[in-house]
Amino acid sequence: MTNTQPIGFIDSGVGGLTVVKEAMKQLPNEHIIYLGDTARCPYGPRPAEQVIAYTWQMTHFLLEKNIKMLVIACNTATAVALEEIKEQLNIPVVGVILPGTRAAVKTTKNRNIGIIGTAGTVKSGSYEKAIKTKVPEATVSSLACPKFVPIVESNQFQSSVAKKIVAETLIPLKFKKLDTLILGCTHYPLLRPIIQNVMGEQVTLIDSGAETIGEVSMLLDYFDIANTTAGQPSAYFYTTGSTVMFDGIAKEWLETIPVHSEHIDL
Ligand code: DGL
Repeated sequence: MTNTQPIGFIDSGVGGLTVVKEAMKQLPNEHIIYLGDTARCPYGPRPAEQVIAYTWQMTHFLLEKNIKMLVIACNTATAVALEEIKEQLNIPVVGVILPGTRAAVKTTKNRNIGIIGTAGTVKSGSYEKAIKTKVPEATVSSLACPKFVPIVESNQFQSSVAKKIVAETLIPLKFKKLDTLILGCTHYPLLRPIIQNVMGEQVTLIDSGAETIGEVSMLLDYFDIANTTAGQPSAYFYTTGSTVMFDGIAKEWLETIPVHSEHIDL
């Protein structure tokens, strides 16, 4: 059986594109629909109830587009809304926190794991709980990095300002003897070279979004809903903010395809 319905991806802005990039690489047959709620980004500092409400609005928009699977390509939304949305939809729903956790647990040798994410993700304690459930003796150090998302959303992620802010923000993690650091926000892979440089080569960075595509791939096979029809797959992008800003970042990040996003209001 082949299923040509699209896979839906949601994020508060452009961050989920780091997950889409990996989907295009690992699942080149699949049609993709992406929605970034750029107008209301960042979600990180918002109260949980608000993030849940916004995530439902994005979910309803994509359900109208007849998606076969939903990927919550945002850690902040995954932390507070995944369980509820998963319970209520009759299609598979995938979040980014557990795949990142699994990869970190597999990678670490000294069981000293760091997590960087938004204030909301860190406050939820979701990564910490997930890691401790698997490896109770692990030491977990979490750090909120509220300045990172605005740098990415304003397309300054390669600037000298970005380097300075990342270096200053990560100081508290430099002396924790980490061997593994989870990029617990889907915006952060765009800052990856700078983060790696600041933390040093001895620290392995885990891209939770990219790890998630392994799970998406597995679920497509498990539910027998992969698109096995040959042909050119489509990718549609929607943003609640500026299409010019969105397309600029998307083109630079995705490289392979031209992006012409459409503006919508939620
Ligand atoms: N990209 C999102 C995440 O993974 C959220 C960024 C934000 O809106 O604060 O958490």
